[in-house]
Amino acid sequence: VAGQGLASLAAAGIKTECGVLEAQAQRLNQGFMSRMRRGRPWVRIKLATSLDGRTALANGESRWISSQCARADVQRLRAQSSAIMTGSGTVATDDPRLTVRLSAADLGLEKPPLQPTRVVLSAGFRIDPRARVLDPPGKCIIFTTAQQRAETAQRPGLFDRPNVEVLSVRSRDTGFDLEEILKTLGGRGANEVQVEAGAALCGALLRQRLADELVIYMAPTLMGDTARAFAHLPEIQKMTQRVPLRFDDARMVGDDLRITATPAHQHS
Ligand SMILES: NC(=O)c1ccc[n+]([C@@H]2O[C@H](COP(=O)([O-])OP(=O)(O)OC[C@H]3O[C@@H](n4cnc5c(N)ncnc54)[C@H](OP(=O)(O)O)[C@@H]3O)[C@@H](O)[C@H]2O)c1
Repeated sequence: VAGQGLASLAAAGIKTECGVLEAQAQRLNQGFMSRMRRGRPWVRIKLATSLDGRTALANGESRWISSQCARADVQRLRAQSSAIMTGSGTVATDDPRLTVRLSAADLGLEKPPLQPTRVVLSAGFRIDPRARVLDPPGKCIIFTTAQQRAETAQRPGLFDRPNVEVLSVRSRDTGFDLEEILKTLGGRGANEVQVEAGAALCGALLRQRLADELVIYMAPTLMGDTARAFAHLPEIQKMTQRVPLRFDDARMVGDDLRITATPAHQHS
């Protein structure tokens, strides 16, 4: 990426050519490149929405907006991710496992897939110790404030399991320092983080320009304007304040439309 690879090859007398299929190579290695260049993983927000862009009913119910095919596709994205990140709101409402459940054969792998680390954010440490996200297989990291972490340490038994780690993170007026969380994950070797969260965390990542990609599974349904939107963003007064995106890909996955989009700042 930025090392001495080319020079070493040249010194060994091996003829090299640069820039061959560059875009495809960058895409294949986007997580590694992100970690090497920015010290943080590539961040993909994955969401299931209705055609009118809603992600849950007003009462929080969101299962199952997308089709079984779309969910199998999500399993493949999970399998290529080092970590799956969510917020305590999603854990409380959906109690997801966030694990890879397709077999090696389903995924075209020789060995069983590695389980991504589950990452849960909660400033108020609102996490039920029975939540399925804490269960093996795989690790679970909970990010909270220093104070909540200290208080949790005084409640032994609930969260001191071998696969669960509670880490503290700095907070700002707007919530956690999300870049610090991503750098911590990058420092532990995470190349790609998939965010499967509600509007609070998705909105915070978009506002802080930390989302690199959006993968939206849009179901052919309408949920109406009382249902929840996919990102909390500040009210904008002018069209120039919109969050500009670029559509990179659109294809059918089962009955759903899968749209891949990148924020415009990725291209500047
Ligand atoms: N359709 C989909 O693809 C999809 C996917 C996931 C979730 N959902 C739906 O989304 C709804 C939940 O939405 P939500 O907005 O409550 O979920 P969320 O973003 O997953 O969780 C919100 C909570 O996470 C913590 N958090 C998030 N961002 C933070 C930040 N920047 N700094 C500090 N803490 C942060 C806070 O926890 P504390 O309050 O504990 O401090 C916050 O209350 C549910 O109805 C769920 O079904 C839909």
